[in-house]
Amino acid sequence: MTDALYSSCWRSPSNIALVKYWGKKPGQIPFNASISFTLSNCYSETILSAFKKADHLRFSIELLLDGKPEPSFIPKIKSFFEHIESEMPLVGKYHWKIETRNTFPHSSGIASSASGMSALTLCLLSIAEKSGHKTDDFIREASFLSRIGSGSACRSVYGGFNEWGLHPDCHGSSDLFAINLDHVHPVFADYCDTILIVHEGPKTVSSSIGHSLIGHHVFASSRFEHAQKQVSKLKGVLASGDIEAFTGIVESEALMLHAMMMTSDPCFILMKPQTLAIIESIWEYRKQKNNSFAFTLDAGANVHFLYTKADEANARKFIKDELLSYCHQGRFIDDQVGSGPVQIS
Ligand code: PMV
Repeated sequence: MTDALYSSCWRSPSNIALVKYWGKKPGQIPFNASISFTLSNCYSETILSAFKKADHLRFSIELLLDGKPEPSFIPKIKSFFEHIESEMPLVGKYHWKIETRNTFPHSSGIASSASGMSALTLCLLSIAEKSGHKTDDFIREASFLSRIGSGSACRSVYGGFNEWGLHPDCHGSSDLFAINLDHVHPVFADYCDTILIVHEGPKTVSSSIGHSLIGHHVFASSRFEHAQKQVSKLKGVLASGDIEAFTGIVESEALMLHAMMMTSDPCFILMKPQTLAIIESIWEYRKQKNNSFAFTLDAGANVHFLYTKADEANARKFIKDELLSYCHQGRFIDDQVGSGPVQIS
């Protein structure tokens, strides 16, 4: 193959939502605002290269995951490129080669679409800049475009804690892109998340289907109203550093996300018996020791075990002594709040 005309490489992390986004309107517009923190060790690293294409052809895409062709990812990326072509005509002009890898298995219950789509968008925007595209705010535009690929990806372009969705208490917030929350208490600056893998492999119901069931969900409007209130509360708690109030909000959000799944039509359950065993174990231990241990869940069976840096040694012992026995082949991933994407030269 001839040399690439343009090339760019970005490393972009995944994120975990604390107030959940579940349900969207056309154009990837969320029904309610959400807050997440960006992870550090769970990231995608993507090289995007642009090659000359035959004049009569539309753009084409090839994708390598860990160096091997992965055609199953191409339809989602093709649809993403088609949706952003009017904003960024450059996508229509080339043959694109995407070489990507994740530091975590893509079926481990960590949003690989958030890291993957944000890494790809950052590469695309870097190439666009090199070929004359002007942007006032590179990262905000990356958030705007990533959202179109995968809603939660728009929160991954910043480090720390981030909010997405129009909300009266979040100055500058928008349904179109995420913003960084800068009033965050130091206790959360290095907040820890150990992802306990209880189930690997594809989910029985994808997030896209889950989102689509919200349109006619019996609890939809109360969920959206409640989530907006949770955003207000969590924003305050993140600023004050009140761990007890934080835990209450975050755990209730995790269970409400799954309650929405369990009461969809058709209904479904993504938790496994080990998911509940871990939650009970965390609750029991917290009651005994009065520590900062908490959990959240993504749209899957795996548990994000959350704790402050000050409790790290205790958390490690607790994982080894109790939680590991519930993990699939004893697997877990240690992570914590991260500082956001980096460009690799
Ligand atoms: O970005 P999506 O379409 O993969 O949806 C993400 C939904 C949750 O991860 C369950 C919640 C969230 O806010 O990230």
